[in-house]
Amino acid sequence: MSFIKKIENDIKIIMNKLGYDIEKVTLVVSNRPDLGEYQINDAMKLAKIYKKNPREIATSILEELKKDARFVNVNIAGSGFINLSISKEYLIECTNKTIENVYNNIDLPEKKKIIIDYGGANVAKILHVGHLRSANIGEALKRLAKFLGQEIIGDVHLGDAGLQAGIVCLEMKDRYPNLICFKSDYQGEDFELPITSEDLSYIYPEGSTRIKANEELLHEARNITYLIQKGHLGYCKLWDKISSLSIKTIKEIYEELNATFELWEGERLTFDVIPEMLNLLDKKGLLYISEGAKVMDVKEDSDDKEMPPIILEKSDGAYLYGTTDLATIYSRMKRFNPDEIWYVVDNRQELHFNQVFRAAYKSGIVKENTSLQFLGFGTMNGTDGKPFKTRDGGVMSLPNLIDLVNEETLKKLNPTITDPKEKKDISRTIAISAIKYADLIPYRSTDYIFDPNKFSDLEGKTGPYLLYSTIRMKSLLNKAKEKNMVFNIIKTIKNEYDKDIMLNILNLSSTITKAYESKSLNELTDYIYKLTSSYNKFYSENRVLDEENYDLRESWLVLTKLVLDINILLLNILGINCPEKM
Ligand code: ARG
Repeated sequence: MSFIKKIENDIKIIMNKLGYDIEKVTLVVSNRPDLGEYQINDAMKLAKIYKKNPREIATSILEELKKDARFVNVNIAGSGFINLSISKEYLIECTNKTIENVYNNIDLPEKKKIIIDYGGANVAKILHVGHLRSANIGEALKRLAKFLGQEIIGDVHLGDAGLQAGIVCLEMKDRYPNLICFKSDYQGEDFELPITSEDLSYIYPEGSTRIKANEELLHEARNITYLIQKGHLGYCKLWDKISSLSIKTIKEIYEELNATFELWEGERLTFDVIPEMLNLLDKKGLLYISEGAKVMDVKEDSDDKEMPPIILEKSDGAYLYGTTDLATIYSRMKRFNPDEIWYVVDNRQELHFNQVFRAAYKSGIVKENTSLQFLGFGTMNGTDGKPFKTRDGGVMSLPNLIDLVNEETLKKLNPTITDPKEKKDISRTIAISAIKYADLIPYRSTDYIFDPNKFSDLEGKTGPYLLYSTIRMKSLLNKAKEKNMVFNIIKTIKNEYDKDIMLNILNLSSTITKAYESKSLNELTDYIYKLTSSYNKFYSENRVLDEENYDLRESWLVLTKLVLDINILLLNILGINCPEKM
């Protein structure tokens, strides 16, 4: 509960004692701050219920509120509006309690073991903007859960068993027919891959274009994919090598985005357990043959939308996306026995996951008390409302997207930073903050429009604004330390700017709880902006280090320290790095 909600609740208790009962009391921010910071307008409602004069009711409430030292300036306006302010002593007392630990009163959720499936890069293909949100949201959710004491394991779940495997191997065969892995008597000997990771950026796209124009090649690519699924020596060795090459690049990009995975597993890892899992489903009588394929019904009576059966093995024996995902659950349950599995995946895959989850519960692969959660996210669009593309309409790769924003942050970089390496590093860090913060602002499942110029701005609700403000707070405190100024506790405050900062500080715990409950980071991105803005308003009004009232100066330094601590904590949860200067 937010600080103000708690106060509201306490006022409700006071009203109850007076014999008045309404569902909830609302403390509204007053539009007449000269009369009080907050207003309670519920006397009107009570008057109707209890058939009394509203002013009489307001007066009885007022008498009680006046006895409570937390409230000051309690008065009645008009026909029964109660105005009040929170006493600065009370705010100071509560804020001082957070000094030892800014999140001392946080509610911890019930301890769970969680696997979070996010990232989802596809081997040998470029990481595109669709993978960005999964990495950003997934990483932040994982850090948030960890912070709240959960045991959480992140798995990148690489896409490494799809048709791209066949396409790339086919393309390799065309370009390098003499590679030993293609020989009919290949025994698994090691060989050197004749390509670099840069080459991979065009091998798949070119192969993909070729098979689209040629039915026969498509058929062959499918066959190679199938052979890899069944353990064909030569193709498996080739695909292994290509995978390692590609994963190296994938890791570099994730590293730049601050996405760190505990497990680097993928679809291919499930091939060992798929036969066993299909056997189990078969024994339970859940599989049937439809047009030659092995399928399982996942419809439920209450469905009002179409729910097609999940196809687990095609007529030619090949496995599909649903097969590997179900088998991944099967394997995760056996190895980790988690309480929850979270999937941070594009909204457009919801039906697929619905089918997989139902199959998992229906077959008993997971028990009812294991929670499989689809945490879908919306699309990052261009100004045309369609998924963000390159200028010529192509798929925007993640490195290109980062470069695009980097161009903007470089333009806006502080001109006193001249060392080329420093310039590059700082600009890059700011660019990543711009992308990540903007990506985490919308509610998880909402689409949003990508705007490199706006996101990299130093003003407004942006990553760079937060970094800049955070660095400024740090430098203020460093100067204070150099001057041996003490800042232990808040002793006094000056005005509503300070109060506003304290109110925001006191809302940290409830914000974190809300973010965790909704599994959406917008709560945190909103909050950190509000807190930082309230601090910056105060900062532009006052000259902290020159303040002659030492008690006030100390209090302001403590407020600065608290806001800084919260910013550092939240930027870290959001997976955003802060440079030393900018
Ligand atoms: N590789 C998939 C894609 O690029 C995302 C993987 C999501 N996770 C999963 N368990 N299927 O669309």
